[in-house]
Amino acid sequence: MESVALLLLLVVLVLVLRDRTAALLLAERDRDCWVAEAGLSAVVRRVDPRFLSVTIDASLASEEKFVSLLSSTKIRTLAKALSPSFLRFGGTRQDFMVFSPQKVQQDSGSSARWLFNGSSAEGSCDRVELPSWLEDKLKIDWTQQLLNLMREDLQGKYRTVKFTEDTVDLLQSFASCSGMDLIFGLNALLRSADNSWNSSNAGLLLQYCESRGYPMSWELGNEPNSYEKKAGIRVDGHQLGRDFNRLRAMMSQSTWFQGAGLFGPDVGQPREHRVNLLEGFLQSGSQAVDAVTWHHYYVNGRDTSVEDFLDPQVLDSLILKTKEVLQEVQMVSPEKPVWLGETSSAFGGGAAGLSDTFVAGFMWLDKLGLSARLGMAVVMRQVLIGSGSYHLLDENLDPLPDYWLSVLYKRLVGPEVLKIESRSSTVRLYLHCANRNSYRGGAVTLISMNLGQEPACISLPTLLSSSSTVEAFVLQSDRPGGEGLYSRCVKLNGGVLKMVDDRTLPHLKGARLPPAEHLQLPAFSLAFFVLIDAGAVACM
Ligand SMILES: *[C@@H]1O[C@H](CO)[C@@H](O)[C@H](O)[C@H]1NC(C)=O
Repeated sequence: MESVALLLLLVVLVLVLRDRTAALLLAERDRDCWVAEAGLSAVVRRVDPRFLSVTIDASLASEEKFVSLLSSTKIRTLAKALSPSFLRFGGTRQDFMVFSPQKVQQDSGSSARWLFNGSSAEGSCDRVELPSWLEDKLKIDWTQQLLNLMREDLQGKYRTVKFTEDTVDLLQSFASCSGMDLIFGLNALLRSADNSWNSSNAGLLLQYCESRGYPMSWELGNEPNSYEKKAGIRVDGHQLGRDFNRLRAMMSQSTWFQGAGLFGPDVGQPREHRVNLLEGFLQSGSQAVDAVTWHHYYVNGRDTSVEDFLDPQVLDSLILKTKEVLQEVQMVSPEKPVWLGETSSAFGGGAAGLSDTFVAGFMWLDKLGLSARLGMAVVMRQVLIGSGSYHLLDENLDPLPDYWLSVLYKRLVGPEVLKIESRSSTVRLYLHCANRNSYRGGAVTLISMNLGQEPACISLPTLLSSSSTVEAFVLQSDRPGGEGLYSRCVKLNGGVLKMVDDRTLPHLKGARLPPAEHLQLPAFSLAFFVLIDAGAVACM
């Protein structure tokens, strides 16, 4: 009897203590609604304003002409809506790319040469326009190129690709005209006889970019943990760290790149050998980098299913991986920001029919929510356009569901993470201050998703008073039920989203909800609820 009383006392004590942290959240089933309490007084994390960022895979430069797709009016319109963000150019093929300046042949006219006159000068953004006949031709050729790239990937043999000033000019022009900060991934597989990095080619590229005054930052190498498989070269973490020190020294010698960013080592997600690589890298090279980067994919694109995309356990697998990396970094350089430097749903180019459809949004939005909560400062989505099926824009450069989700996230979600917890396995919740560019102080944005096939309901007693104004942005497939998960079309508050024309996005309008105690989440839906009158102290 006494021990039972003692136990009860203990339970009460634990609850009271947890409650005192003010951020505690008890969620329980109240009638048919999930009750969640939110902590509004403290910011638990603050992410980079460019938190949601994107990548372009280096395979786009496998033939230089394809980089000109970045001059398409449509893609520039779409990219602008994702700023501010980083634009990372990198991936497997960055380690097979060699800069081959063509300065002397400036007049010889490659297929894309006409674009460059002045394309990077101030105020020239509107003048860069890819003629539609060329855009159409490039899109057709690109479909063919994808087959070549896939064959290379399957064989695991990569040919060396030469690139000229054109590639860099187009990337930089695209980034700066879209309000993005370009990060260029250098080739780390250029090695000397003693296995140290041969920096001479990078030196040429830095020199060129300095001469043009490009405000870029840098990476060195992509997934060095698999160099042996990709190129038969083994580079351990300590050596890689020394290579980064070398690059940092080169940057320091340049007046232009002295203060520029350097990020790395872009390792794959933790498995035993990879953690060793990261540890060695941090020991010798952590001072060289401004942020530590790693890559994450939930599943193998060739071996996954729609169930995986909706499986809370699969989504939660990110937690352990993230904590492993954070622990590693905190041991050696506790102050270093950690980034997801390349990430998406499925590796191996994504899962066709899943990574490019509505269901991908559950992995993407949950990754954004979890990563912010766990302390990732930036998350770079593989890819904006190009290889694989995890792209935000399809082969025709039209937006896929994850693009619209990303734009809404940009507009509605601020960098301050607040505490909330859902005890339901199918209703997942994240809470941020609302984006101050769109809403006044004190407003919060509830990020929510319903993984289940039944409608769900959320109740937030501290947030939803009868007078509170709620703006809802509910994303659903254009088709109902399980079949809708495979759709490439998404509805916002009931209306299908599509571009008005190549220069105009539709108005992404929230729905004002009448005062209520509950928020309704339709089956298989992703939703942002902006609670305008929340008066959250942390968001003032
Ligand atoms: C580095 O690469 C350059 C260009 O390929 C070559 O000329 C040079 O000899 C290499 N340096 C070393 C130390 O291997």
